[in-house]
Amino acid sequence: MSSYEAAFRVWRGDVGGGGLEDFKVEVNDGEVVLDIIHRLQATQTPDLAVRWNCKAGKCGSCSAEVNGRPRLMCMTRMSVFTRDEVITVTPLRAFPVVRDLVTDVGFNYRKAREVPAFVPPAGVGPGEYRMMQEDVDRSQEFRKCIECFLCQDTCHVVRDHEDNKAAFAGPRFLMRVAELDMHPLDAASEEGLDRKRTAQDEHGLGYCNITKCCTEVCPEGIHITDNALIPLKERAADRKYDPVVWLGNKIRRR
Ligand code: SF4
Ligand code: F3S
Ligand code: FES
Repeated sequence: MSSYEAAFRVWRGDVGGGGLEDFKVEVNDGEVVLDIIHRLQATQTPDLAVRWNCKAGKCGSCSAEVNGRPRLMCMTRMSVFTRDEVITVTPLRAFPVVRDLVTDVGFNYRKAREVPAFVPPAGVGPGEYRMMQEDVDRSQEFRKCIECFLCQDTCHVVRDHEDNKAAFAGPRFLMRVAELDMHPLDAASEEGLDRKRTAQDEHGLGYCNITKCCTEVCPEGIHITDNALIPLKERAADRKYDPVVWLGNKIRRR
């Protein structure tokens, strides 16, 4: 087993401010960035704050930015960096810092609550749902989400414009709206909820200009843009420009 000393630059501080601190840390074969952060805690900085849980890419807790790219620290192998590279680890930029590498991701939970839940179809009990396999597959892809919020962190709509947070749900939750809108058994419309309209008017679908950065950072490989956001935009546009829908809306508004 070979080992070497890596140069790590880690952001330390809290809501009042902070900065990057330099460390030399031992690295062994097969280790990931989170191993090195844990070694730092064990040997040099016992009070370094970091959030993690599963160390298997499944809990979504260890999100941070490594050399400026949003990543899961437990799934980022040290072997992707050269041995002489300085590895900079900073907290997620789109959310407020609590301390060191820990951010307050409460924004995401507030946005989650703004999306009305699946409405079960009337007269169909649990275990009686029947769906085409392709509809099951579509939902399954979106359900792989581990809520790491890397997509939320990287999307320029909120990353660079704090003011947009109030009006924009972000890719993770627009994907949830898309999932429900395309769900063949969701009976929300029978209760007067138009998910396509709320996607535009309440969740800020129009802010997304399809840059696909969210898709690029998703550790679950979910095709957020191609399979959720673009179809949702198409469905919302159909609703708006379909002459029959347009006429129906006009008549209803009278
Ligand atoms: Fe993370 Fe992907 Fe879910 Fe976004 S969609 S929160 S990047 S797993
Ligand atoms: Fe943002 Fe993804 Fe759209 S990064 S702009 S939500 S394609
Ligand atoms: Fe759970 Fe990294 S510790 S995803």
